[in-house]
Amino acid sequence: MQRQAEMGQGMRPLIAGNWKMNGTGDSLAEVTAVARWMSEAAPRADVLVCPPFTLIARATALAAGRIAIGGQDCSPQSSGAFTGDVSAAMLKDAGASAAIVGHSERRRYHGETDSLVGAKAKAAWRAGLLAVICFGETQDERDAGRAEDVVRAQIAGSIPVDMDSSNAAVAYEPVWAIGTGCTPTDDEIAGMHALIRGCLTARFGDTGAQMRILYGGSVKPANAGGILALPNVNGVLVGGASLIADEFLAIIGSAPAL
Ligand code: PGA
Repeated sequence: MQRQAEMGQGMRPLIAGNWKMNGTGDSLAEVTAVARWMSEAAPRADVLVCPPFTLIARATALAAGRIAIGGQDCSPQSSGAFTGDVSAAMLKDAGASAAIVGHSERRRYHGETDSLVGAKAKAAWRAGLLAVICFGETQDERDAGRAEDVVRAQIAGSIPVDMDSSNAAVAYEPVWAIGTGCTPTDDEIAGMHALIRGCLTARFGDTGAQMRILYGGSVKPANAGGILALPNVNGVLVGGASLIADEFLAIIGSAPAL
């Protein structure tokens, strides 16, 4: 048991969908379909759907507690003159129970640094949300043989020391795999997740052994089962395929029995 915990095995996986800047009211039929499936099937995974902010309240109502709803970002500030930003407490008030922070698209298009991502993770935690903290190397960094160093530095810089497995999960998302149809090999994913597990246990001790490590980047029905079966993979973060109910349900259904 102890050894299983050390390996991050025996955890119920988290299947998270990130809709990005997609979806209007019509798209909520998917939330209804997934929530219905969760009540009828015997799901082997927890499910989180992160629609745009505008849909969170409606999605929460339709989810009926069967799936969790989250935001795709949150402000590091709790309130004030920050036009256009949304605080973690506002997300919570709208019904969210989680927030993605540090997604590579936020880092790239909004210049988010590790320390800002860490501040957002803390804000999410203070509001009672699960922070899903993302990191991963770019193609250039990988080609230069720096992937592991980059990931180590991102973990050190963007996961606050006072996080634990109840208020944080992490997502390894190699930037070159996002939306491209390319994925690392199973060995590469297992190797990077083992490195991440080592960083988490070194930093957080026992709770680091229990922190979920998600893989993200071109997860599809065809590869989800294999990825979810790898050691130290405790879930997946799904972009494109989470927009299509049949594909997302197939990914949820591919979670292996514990
Ligand atoms: P993708 O996106 O599944 O479309 O590659 C993953 C993500 O950005 O989280």
